[in-house]
Parts: sequence; C-alpha cells; structure tokens
Amino acid sequence: MQCVPLACFQVIRCRAAVAWAPGKLSVEEVEVAPPKAGEVRIKLVATGICRTDEHLLQGCFPNAEFPVIPGISSHTGMWRMQLLISEPQHLLPDKTTRFSCKGKQIHHFLWVSTFAEYTVVPEYTVAKIDAAAPLDKVCLFGCGFSTGYGAAINTAKVKPGSTCAVFGLGGIGLSVVMGCKAAGASRIIGVDINKDKFAKAKELGATDCINPRDFQKPIQEVLTEMTGQGVDYSFEAIGHKDTMIAALASCNMSTGVCVMIGELDSGSEISIDPTLLLTGRTWKGTVLGGSWKTRECIPKLVSSYLEKKFNSDLLITHTLPFAKVNEGFELLRAGKSIRTVLLF
Ligand code: APR
Repeated sequence: MQCVPLACFQVIRCRAAVAWAPGKLSVEEVEVAPPKAGEVRIKLVATGICRTDEHLLQGCFPNAEFPVIPGISSHTGMWRMQLLISEPQHLLPDKTTRFSCKGKQIHHFLWVSTFAEYTVVPEYTVAKIDAAAPLDKVCLFGCGFSTGYGAAINTAKVKPGSTCAVFGLGGIGLSVVMGCKAAGASRIIGVDINKDKFAKAKELGATDCINPRDFQKPIQEVLTEMTGQGVDYSFEAIGHKDTMIAALASCNMSTGVCVMIGELDSGSEISIDPTLLLTGRTWKGTVLGGSWKTRECIPKLVSSYLEKKFNSDLLITHTLPFAKVNEGFELLRAGKSIRTVLLF
C-alpha cells in the first residue's frame, strides 16, 4: 500500500496573481484545491513573464476567461504536452477549476497558471528534470526558450551554412538566434526597431543587426539585397501582420522557409499577395517550438544547458520577487526586459 501524505488532500491557501478582468494583476490569497485523479499539485519555485501573458492581460488571447491566474512562460519541472489554441483551456480537462478566491471560482490559463505558489495540472504535462538544474534559470525552458530554439531546430530545420533573418529580438527571437547558431547557420540577421536589442543578439550569435527605421525601402528589399536572393529561413517573433508579410517576402522566392511564431490578436486575419507563395516559398507556423516531445525533450534541453551547449541565462535581464509581478510587466511593456524571472 502506498502512503499518501494527508496534506495532499487539503486545500492550500497561498498567494497568486489574479487578473479579475483584462488589465492589471492583483496579488491575492487564493485557495488551491487538491488534485483529482490524473492531476498533480505543484509548488512553484520560479516562473518567467511572457508576452503571451501580456496578450491575456490585454484581453487579446483566444478563448481566455476572467478572472484568471495567468503564467504560461517558463516554470520549473512542468510542461504542457500540447497547446490547443482552438480548445478552451481555462478549466482543467474535467471542466472544473482548482482555484478560488474570495468565494469566486478563478480560471486556469492553458492548464498552467504559474503565477501562483501552487498550481494543479494534468499529470501527463509534467516532466522530470535533472535535480542539479538551477530552477531560476531553467524555468525559461517551460515556454519562451523552447519556443524560439525549437522554431529553428524543429520547425525550420535550419541547415549548416544557411542564411537566416530573425524579426524581433525579444526573448523568443533571441532564442531563435541561438537555435540558428546551434544548427550551424553561417549568417544570422537580426531585425528590430529597438537597437538596444542588438548587442545581446550579437552576443548570442547574430552576425548582423538592422533597424527597419534606418532604411527608406521595405526591410524585405534590404534583406534581399544583403543576401543576394533572400534568406534561406526567416522567422517572425513579433506578432504583427506587416512583419509577418515582410518576413515571408524576405526569404528566397523558390526555396525559402518562413516560420511564424508571433501571436496576432484573437480573431485577426492576414491577407497576402499569393505570388509570394506561388513562386515556391514555404510558410509555416509553430507553437512551443514545433515537434518537441516535451516529456523527453525538456529534460534533454536541461541537460544540454548543464553541459553549457548554449547560454540561455543571457535572456534573463531581471529577477524579481513574486510580489513585484506588475513591475515585471511594466518592464516588458517598456521594452526594458527580455525575460523577467519571478521568485516565490
Ligand atoms: N519591426 C521590428 N521589430 C519590432 C517591431 C517591428 N515593427 N515591433 C516590435 N519589434 C520588436 C520589439 O522591439 C521587441 O524587441 O520585437 C521584439 C518583441 O519582443 P518581446 O516583446 O520581448 O516579445 P517576445 O516575448 O520575444 O515574444 C514575441 O512571440 O510567442 C510570441 O506572444 C509572443 O507575439 C509574441 C512574440
């Protein structure tokens, strides 16, 4: 017979950041119900702030419900098997919530909700990682780093010696840069309107960085001139329609592959000149880094990190106590942070 500690069956009262409506987060005392069959309750040690959480707070995330406890990016020891944007994940798979506050039910976010000292998730979304890993660093592998790195390695399958353009040099774009470098790309061109991002991009592997505002002509023309016939691979890590189209037009017209990573607002549509695709370009999208088999791959990524095969620590510009979660979002909105890690 297995002995289960009594505490596993008790409601836990702890702090969580609740978004009662789109806008700001409020740190509250919440109740976290015990896990049901096939679920685990997790104690959070560190979590990162992601642009996706900001989309949620702006009310732009598809199928989100308020009040909600956000937190998707980056949490230690846990991973979602799949992100089904089309399937609401504001409740656990049995269509109930484990969170409540002030007598009200609080929604989950994408079956994750890491902005809480304790959260409950489906057991099959959890991965075990090397106990030696520093939790305040490898928490990035829960989303942001894996998304960008995987976009290069898995989705685009960047080949050695190839040329790449990365639109947007935030946490996702910089992770793409690392993925392109690891895959052996010979030229990696970073594109951003904030030149303060260029130094870090170069440190991580970008060979050139350009600001579209420095040119009179469209950036796709600039990139085509820089590379002769367009890049082999382009990545959009911003989430704007115009940069998605520019990224597509920047890659080689017959063999280029463009990967869309940035998220548009819920309900957005995009229209393009069909000749961009007719001529032979491939346009792909990716969530969470393409084909990671996450229960296997996250522990492997952690091992690669411990073996110093890449330095994702450079993505962490700020570390704050959890109570300063709103300050972390202000840094993100002001473009001052790449990744902020919150410590519980
Ligand atoms: N052209 C070039 N760069 C731009 C433009 C533009 N028109 N607009 C914004 N940027 C740059 C910003 O200056 C910033 O450096 O894009 C970068 C975006 O970085 P973050 O805001 O830190 O976003 P990040 O967390 O990297 O996520 C990027 O991927 O997963 C999605 O939801 C996420 O849509 C978001 C995208």
